[in-house]
Amino acid sequence: MSGHGTPIPMTAGHAGPLTGVAEVPGDKSISHRALILGAMAVGETRITGLLEGEDVLDTAKAMRAFGAEVTRDEDGTWHVHGVGVGGFAEPDQVIDCGNSGTGVRLIMGAMASSPITATFTGDASLTKRPMARVTDPLALFGTRAYGRSGGRLPMTIQGAADPVPVNYTVPVPSAQVKSAVLLAGLNAPGQTVVTEREATRDHTERMLAGFGAEITTEETNEGRVITLTGRPELTPQVIAVPRDPSSAAFPVCAALIVPGSDLLVPGIGLNPTRAGLFTTLREMGADLTYENEREEGGEPVADLRARYSPDMKGITVPAHRAASMIDEYPILCAVAANATGATMMEGVRELRVKESDRIAAMADGLRACGVPVEDGEDWMEVQGLGAGGVPGGAICATHLDHRIAMSFLVLGMAAQQPVSVDDGSPIATSFPIFEPLMAALGATIARTGA
Ligand code: S3P
Repeated sequence: MSGHGTPIPMTAGHAGPLTGVAEVPGDKSISHRALILGAMAVGETRITGLLEGEDVLDTAKAMRAFGAEVTRDEDGTWHVHGVGVGGFAEPDQVIDCGNSGTGVRLIMGAMASSPITATFTGDASLTKRPMARVTDPLALFGTRAYGRSGGRLPMTIQGAADPVPVNYTVPVPSAQVKSAVLLAGLNAPGQTVVTEREATRDHTERMLAGFGAEITTEETNEGRVITLTGRPELTPQVIAVPRDPSSAAFPVCAALIVPGSDLLVPGIGLNPTRAGLFTTLREMGADLTYENEREEGGEPVADLRARYSPDMKGITVPAHRAASMIDEYPILCAVAANATGATMMEGVRELRVKESDRIAAMADGLRACGVPVEDGEDWMEVQGLGAGGVPGGAICATHLDHRIAMSFLVLGMAAQQPVSVDDGSPIATSFPIFEPLMAALGATIARTGA
């Protein structure tokens, strides 16, 4: 679990050209879901390419606590012996989900319609984040939640003994909320229907279909209507997790702003509900191409080629694209600072309730590095200073947020003075090989004493 160790200050200075092949780790969203659905199937699910970051390892531990057998071979293949839908055992101990909002919210959903009780907690970031967005719809199944004020962790969830199916419209664009309701719907008799006004990542729906659940998605005037038939027997799967587009974003964006760079980032998941950053970068004039487009494990995949792009222009990123790049706004800020003109990001209110308040964290750090930023409740605008125009030379606070830490380190690779972060330790939650991977490409990241 992160956030309880000693902070690890880090500094990134001007990098030489970034070249070579960047093999980023497995997709975090898909990794959580593979473990959880594997635990809810009957028999053995085999997973390759699982992200072995702290967030996902905490979910693996949680699945063991609910009675699944979860093991790892020396070659990195994971095996999950599931207990079946409705087969979760009551954990003996508190479930600690570390830094992971996805982990805690999906697991709450998965246990919410079984007659067991579990208590959840997390680190200093996760215990500040809102859980009512999940426990409100779970209450409709008959689940009870007892948490701290503001619906925060630690929280005890008492699963519904006699769950009823639910018809729920998700009030905020959140794949975690949608997924929690669908996972709870698995053990409710009849049909659970979830409507989302804006499309969010659909890995849960795709994977449920892969495990043999009856699930349909219909595009309507009200949004996407997802209908799941409860009480299926889930059939174990062999899952190859694609590499994470949200992690690929860091080497890709670094290559775009570091002079002379030319990088290949192979095997990246390009599910349209995740690929908004790459669309945005191309609109800004980035030299970013897709090679060898294919499908792997039910997800579209391509090799990304990113080259130094000194002529990028600021653009307006429309609100309707926000869900498809919600985790990528921090790194987009680093690119926007190196573009010409302003980049306006609209409809990004959800950034305020991530691992940190990402609008505030990026605005503060960018200003400290000499980049003008304006922000409001649900928008932010970064004034680009042109290629290589960022002064840098500041220490930026990461607030236990991995993506804030990596974004400022990438900013430092193209800035006039090095950029430091007060604590890079959260990077291990999602991208444990970030430092050696970036170093192998030509970056200089130093661990700098407090
Ligand atoms: C995720 C959904 C998103 C995203 C998070 C992963 C998921 O959160 O920010 O990193 O795997 O479902 P929200 O559901 O809060 O939008």
